Amino acid sequence: MALWGGRFSDGPADAVFALSRSVHFDWRLAPYDLRSSLAHLEILESSGLLKPEIATSIRGALKELIAEVAAGKFLAIDSDEDVHSALERGLTEKLGEIGGSLRAGRSRNDQVTTDLRLYAIDHMLEVATQILQLQKSLIAKASEYGDAPAPGFTHLQHAQPILFGHEIAKHAHAFSRDLDRISDWLARASVSPLGSGALAGSSLPLSPEKTAKALGFASSAANSIDAVSDRDYVAEALFILAMIGSHLSRIGEEWCIWATTEYGWAKVADAYSTGSSIMPQKKNPDMAELARGKAGRLVGNLTALLTTLKGLPFAYNRDLQEDKEPLFDSIDTVLLVLPAVTGMIATTDFDREKMALAAPLGFSLATEIADYLVRANIPFAHAHEAAGKCVALCESSGRQLHQLTDAELAHIHPSLLPDVRDVLTVQGALASRTTFGGTAPSSFAAQINGLSADIEVLSKKFHDKRAAFSAMMGA
Ligand code: ARG
Repeated sequence: MALWGGRFSDGPADAVFALSRSVHFDWRLAPYDLRSSLAHLEILESSGLLKPEIATSIRGALKELIAEVAAGKFLAIDSDEDVHSALERGLTEKLGEIGGSLRAGRSRNDQVTTDLRLYAIDHMLEVATQILQLQKSLIAKASEYGDAPAPGFTHLQHAQPILFGHEIAKHAHAFSRDLDRISDWLARASVSPLGSGALAGSSLPLSPEKTAKALGFASSAANSIDAVSDRDYVAEALFILAMIGSHLSRIGEEWCIWATTEYGWAKVADAYSTGSSIMPQKKNPDMAELARGKAGRLVGNLTALLTTLKGLPFAYNRDLQEDKEPLFDSIDTVLLVLPAVTGMIATTDFDREKMALAAPLGFSLATEIADYLVRANIPFAHAHEAAGKCVALCESSGRQLHQLTDAELAHIHPSLLPDVRDVLTVQGALASRTTFGGTAPSSFAAQINGLSADIEVLSKKFHDKRAAFSAMMGA
């Protein structure tokens, strides 16, 4: 049903309607559109713009539509342009011409961005909940391997030994930052555009502050022109989702590497692997690869919207209809990948023995020699030089650092005494990294306690926010 046409002598050409139409993707805004219509109705009624009997029938019809949309009984049809026109058709089918009353004091310009904000808040809260599940899975796996030594890498070359649990736990911190970002974003997204009308506000006695409160927003927009054209909250959400995608992609890459025959560390569960149609022996970490690959489209969606927004004149322009598909796709993508990665992590076993054997390879204990000399008050530049000479001698004579003789050590540096061999063990190297955030078992245990406590607090916080949002939607 067209929401305009009075001044036109002809309907839109087929190609125009086809290009205009958005209902095939914006239909998912229907529950939020109906909820904000209820809030708008309250104001029209309380300000005397709608008679109580009319308001009561419209309220009844809106509630019916809420149930019918949820049950899939009321659907958009081919002639509907967008979600707003489809739902007004629904109201008019039930009520006759009073179905159009809700348009008073409201434009699709403030309506669409109110709906999209509600959609975004609802779904970013769901993303947060899924991230918390992923973090729990990471912490459980990190704790399981909290006593397992492994080589740590820089430049993909052996660097220093680490606890494998420390390696796994690092990902949980990246997702904690994503949760922080979601919290910060929620505060900025929580501004209601409703009441801004087409761009200039309204001459009717509306109360944007009251509708804002009814819809759970923290405040109402202070500039109606900004309100209808601001899509910062979409761009920021797309950035957060792209960042989450980037974090997931780095997990994916690690799992792919660790599952290679050459590494042989990760045994990915059958349920999270796929086979090959031609090579019967194959077991591929496709979930890890998809986690890695999906990051591309998440970055693409962010880029697409920023490009649309750049240089766009104020206030509403139809270009803004392009805000929805990138957001929907990024939300769908992240919500698809998060549970798969959570499950993949929970069900992967690691080969402790292989990782432990690899831990001292590549002269990864050379830093221990340098630190030993620093403790004997040798300037680090000299200590580094001496440790490097030890590595060179080992390389040319096919030995490991602890196999150098007392005389060779003393020759390289007079302060390299035989007891330097005490620090040339993986366990010794690990145990000595006791700084806050270091890989020593004691620091690791403190890290896991801190993470678990933070996650406990955040789980409650996001649970309460979701409960409040559902209560608002059901009111
Ligand atoms: N479908 C439109 C959108 O998504 C709704 C707003 C249309 N407003 C207008 N004045 N044409 O942005």
